[in-house]
Amino acid sequence: KNPSPLSFQDICNKLKNNEFKNVVVMCGAGISVAAGIPDFRSANGLYKQLDGYELPYPEAIFDISYFKDKPHPFFRLSKKLFPGNFVPTKTHYFFRLLQKKRILRMIFTQNIDTLERVAGIKDQYLVEAHGSFGKATCVKCKKKYGQNFIKPFIFKDQIPKCVNCDGVVKPDIVFFGESVPKRFRIQKNIDFPKADLLLVIGTSLVVQPFCSLIEEVSPSCPRLLINRETVRRFSSEFNIFSQILGGEGGGGFKFDLEDNYRDIKWIGECDDGIQKMVDLCGWNQEFDEILKE
Ligand code: OAD
Repeated sequence: KNPSPLSFQDICNKLKNNEFKNVVVMCGAGISVAAGIPDFRSANGLYKQLDGYELPYPEAIFDISYFKDKPHPFFRLSKKLFPGNFVPTKTHYFFRLLQKKRILRMIFTQNIDTLERVAGIKDQYLVEAHGSFGKATCVKCKKKYGQNFIKPFIFKDQIPKCVNCDGVVKPDIVFFGESVPKRFRIQKNIDFPKADLLLVIGTSLVVQPFCSLIEEVSPSCPRLLINRETVRRFSSEFNIFSQILGGEGGGGFKFDLEDNYRDIKWIGECDDGIQKMVDLCGWNQEFDEILKE
């Protein structure tokens, strides 16, 4: 049993009655799967599709030290992932509805596909926690480039090279071993304490520092997970262990625990969960208008 006094329906009722004014969204690759972009860790995810890439382990494709030595695998994959060939999903357009209703505080996305922007989310409501293909930087001299500089190289199976120093020009995607953007660090401290509803959608919540963000909302803020599977479940062993080690771990959703009072999960396809929310909120007409635009 879920001891939380809050249900999915309760959250929707509160949304409908205008009780949430600062909705913070955290999302990941799962929200773009319906657009035709594979996620990373599912059975048919990207990390399972890298057989011909000769990588020591799948995540090496986004590892900065590996990239500096061998940039080819990443650029080969970039050709497949390059923004422009995909259209946003219902979930992306739901974010737009929240923006239109002026209750969207901020979207923190791990995605690099820019589909939030394509769906009409304004810069001011978006934190691209893992960067995007929008800009690029020379790894050697740090000269900045736009997306249009790297695109032709990628589509001709060539490595983009700096006009100044011949260094490799890397899209501004945050690799393992690189720090998250300054905007992430700033907005995290501003938006999470202000959140009155946290929506977590389409992410396995395993990559730091992003996954720890769920702990940054106030203790009174409900946290709703919409995902194919349960993720980041609170575990007392893990928490004691990480405290002893002085690690940042800790926390997690308390879905099935006795002391859960604010964590809610909706397990299934995110577009279905979103449609259910729209139905329960009675927002169908406005949502359909956005979808038709
Ligand atoms: P993952 O692939 O780790 O997780 C995607 C989650 O979405 C999983 O829990 C899936 O079950 C779920 N999912 C997939 N399709 C879904 C659907 N249609 N409806 C509902 N849920 C669905 O992707 P992320 O959590 O985004 O980093 O991964 C985080 C980071 O790891 C990425 O940003 C990337 C990767 O390494 C970098 O590129 C630097």
